[in-house]
Amino acid sequence: MQQLRRNRRLRTNDAIRSLVRENAITPNDFITPLFIVEGKGVKEEIASMPGYYRYSLDGIASEVKTLQSLGLKAVLLFVKVADNLKDNKGTEALNSNGLMQRAIKTIKDLAPEMLVMTDVALDPYSSYGHDGIVEDGYITNDPTCDVLAKMALSHVQSGADFVAPSDMMDGRIRAIRELLEQKKFVNAGIMSYSAKYASSFYGPFRDALDSAPGFGDKKTYQMDYANRDEAIKETLMDIQEGADIVMVKPGLCYLDIVRDIKEAVDVPIAVYQVSGEYAMLKAAAEKGWLDHNAVMMEQVTAIKRAGATMIASYFSKDIATLLG
Ligand code: PBG
Repeated sequence: MQQLRRNRRLRTNDAIRSLVRENAITPNDFITPLFIVEGKGVKEEIASMPGYYRYSLDGIASEVKTLQSLGLKAVLLFVKVADNLKDNKGTEALNSNGLMQRAIKTIKDLAPEMLVMTDVALDPYSSYGHDGIVEDGYITNDPTCDVLAKMALSHVQSGADFVAPSDMMDGRIRAIRELLEQKKFVNAGIMSYSAKYASSFYGPFRDALDSAPGFGDKKTYQMDYANRDEAIKETLMDIQEGADIVMVKPGLCYLDIVRDIKEAVDVPIAVYQVSGEYAMLKAAAEKGWLDHNAVMMEQVTAIKRAGATMIASYFSKDIATLLG
């Protein structure tokens, strides 16, 4: 048989493979999540996230320097709030001298070029561990949006470049955008968790922040993982309400959604490779069942290939180190 087309010609050696490669990973692709706690000199490993830590503010400062030296330019901040500061309304979230607000200032003072993004949601502040104010067992929507908008404003006033609402209340992007415009923070960005699914992959993150729901689950606000069309509806609504970046979360199990959204919208798309995805690979690698670095690179490349513009990932430091 005479072969005319041989696809393997373009795979013959590394040089030709490099020339025809369609997607490449660089440190520019990543947002690094950081977990922050009160105290001094604290560096606590999260049991279900080996190699990932909660830092007190002094530790965050040196961690940010390390990230910068690796070429990582964006962080996403989460705080672990003491139990005695939690209540139903997330009062502590609005404290202008709260842990989040101090963390933003600390990072911005030390490294003004580092892009600071902040998590906006009530769960770490909520005595119920929910992303909204609870009334008669129901996670209320509109009263929650009011608090989220004030929380976002407080972060921006402290110096945050982007706020990242991760709560999935209806109309929160609009509430936040209107308040920021009204207060003349016209350049503050919103990265909206637009298609955020009710996922069991968030378990290790809830360990990290001690933020697991005290009753029920998050299925009345986060999306049903059986749904695909709904992700487009959610995302278009967030863009209409003023989101600059939209997000799909989790990552690997949701790449069909990433591609759908890539085809439907013209704003940058972030994908959050979540805590459970990190934990799975670390556990398998610890057992010697998977090649950690090879699988890590395959996963983030797949996320990018699906259509991600950027990736929030606990692997960002490992990857930037590997890319050296
Ligand atoms: C909470 C929030 C969660 C994550 C980011 N923000 C957890 C949840 O919705 O319960 C998950 C991140 C991860 O698992 O890495 N608003």
